[in-house]
Amino acid sequence: MPRLPTVDEVWPLVPRTHRRSLAEWTRLNREIDRCRRCPLGDLRAHPAIHRGSLRPRVLFVGEAPGAAEDRAGLPFVGAAGKRLDQLIHGVGLLESEFAVLNVIKCRPPQNRFSLEAAEACRPFLARQIEFLQPMMVVTLGVSALSAFRPDLLPMTAAAGHISRWRGLRFFPMIHPAAAARSLGFLRRWKRDGKTLASILARLGAA
Ligand code: URA
Repeated sequence: MPRLPTVDEVWPLVPRTHRRSLAEWTRLNREIDRCRRCPLGDLRAHPAIHRGSLRPRVLFVGEAPGAAEDRAGLPFVGAAGKRLDQLIHGVGLLESEFAVLNVIKCRPPQNRFSLEAAEACRPFLARQIEFLQPMMVVTLGVSALSAFRPDLLPMTAAAGHISRWRGLRFFPMIHPAAAARSLGFLRRWKRDGKTLASILARLGAA
């Protein structure tokens, strides 16, 4: 059985004092657009880089774009995105208060999460978080959680629990697509959504 990497091996410290310029964000987006660090860059129509605020309080991080996202060049605009948007509006976040992105920027074939692509995208994800400086990161699904905190797995234990991490608040949830697959997951999605809403209300973010 391969050893799980430690958090320090997986994730560098994210500095939150960084001064941000729009030129920097544009440069990052252009680099992602041109990226060929893994084979997915030649297979996708468009990378799905980011949607939402550039000053989010809450950052939702999913796994990888699907067909709808590949066409639109935006994360979470298909069926899973509709469920996520319902949750976001349900917890009371305004458009200016949240952003959505993925661990992997380009669509993998058969929508299979690729560790090679996640590794290639990791510096982009780190720079996105460094730029956006959210107050809270909400990971969506096992692969998104594993990209940050493999030490918190399994998902059934991690989902719905807030922790402090690298100067951020960290809240794992199951993937919205999983909520469409079983009643048990749907209940879990809704329950953890309520927990998130009460945490945000307490923190004054919503
Ligand atoms: N699933 C994801 O993890 N991300 C998307 O953008 C769409 C579906």
